[in-house]
Amino acid sequence: MLIDAKQQYDSQGFCVMPQRLSDAMLGRLRDSIAEISRMSRPEVVYEKDEKTVRALHGCHRFDDACADLVRLPLFVDLAEAILGDPVYVYQFKVNIKNSHDGEKWPWHQDYAFWSIEDGMPADRALNIAINLDDVFDWNGPLQLLAGSHLLGLIPSPNHGAAAGGDWRDHVSADLTYTVDDREVEEIGRRHPLHKLTGPAGTISAFHPNIVHSSARNTSSDRRTILYITYNAVTNSPRHVHRPDFLVDPSVTAVRKLAQPRALTSV
Ligand code: SIN
Ligand code: MN
Repeated sequence: MLIDAKQQYDSQGFCVMPQRLSDAMLGRLRDSIAEISRMSRPEVVYEKDEKTVRALHGCHRFDDACADLVRLPLFVDLAEAILGDPVYVYQFKVNIKNSHDGEKWPWHQDYAFWSIEDGMPADRALNIAINLDDVFDWNGPLQLLAGSHLLGLIPSPNHGAAAGGDWRDHVSADLTYTVDDREVEEIGRRHPLHKLTGPAGTISAFHPNIVHSSARNTSSDRRTILYITYNAVTNSPRHVHRPDFLVDPSVTAVRKLAQPRALTSV
């Protein structure tokens, strides 16, 4: 099973797992997210209107449900099988694309941020994405250009510009490091678009160098996706200046915690 996932991940830059998060685990996470969203704390990031919650960061550091989630053996085993090393949690975020108000994420590669801003030596990290709402074609799914991770980090004029800039520009709809639309069109000729749609509980993984984006949510269906980034312990960043809730400074291998009712088969 992990072998199939690894094969798809290596060739396509993403894989969709045959397990889903159980309703019980989804319920715990949704309760936590609703509660954290109401808090006034730096981990809570708003859309440009300054009132709609766009994202929550680093929740695994203070919330029990999120702390349990990052220790699920399925995630840790998958990350370790792909990266070939023990892993730790580098980033944890919940991107809430609210109905009608949820903004876009421009085309980008995650590794641009991790390499330029944090000095992550290699692209030996992995994102797990978990749909916490039903994700459809129309509510701003994460969309990927399959196989584009094999292109490596795509040179872009904005890569030289702003290292050390405001971290808010790394989590807003106006991202610092993007892949421009003409380049995306060109890449898209050889790398087909894939949308990570699926019911709440769907679990996928994707590569730091895959080119991806998501559109604005103009529908009445909220779209929440939780992302855990695992990094190899041997690949820790060289110069982290971003806040601890954005890039976890503790490079300690995750201890797995079996939670018998956390997953169901698709
Ligand atoms: C991301 O690219 O980091 C998030 C995109 C999204 O949640 O739509
Ligand atoms: Mn991204």
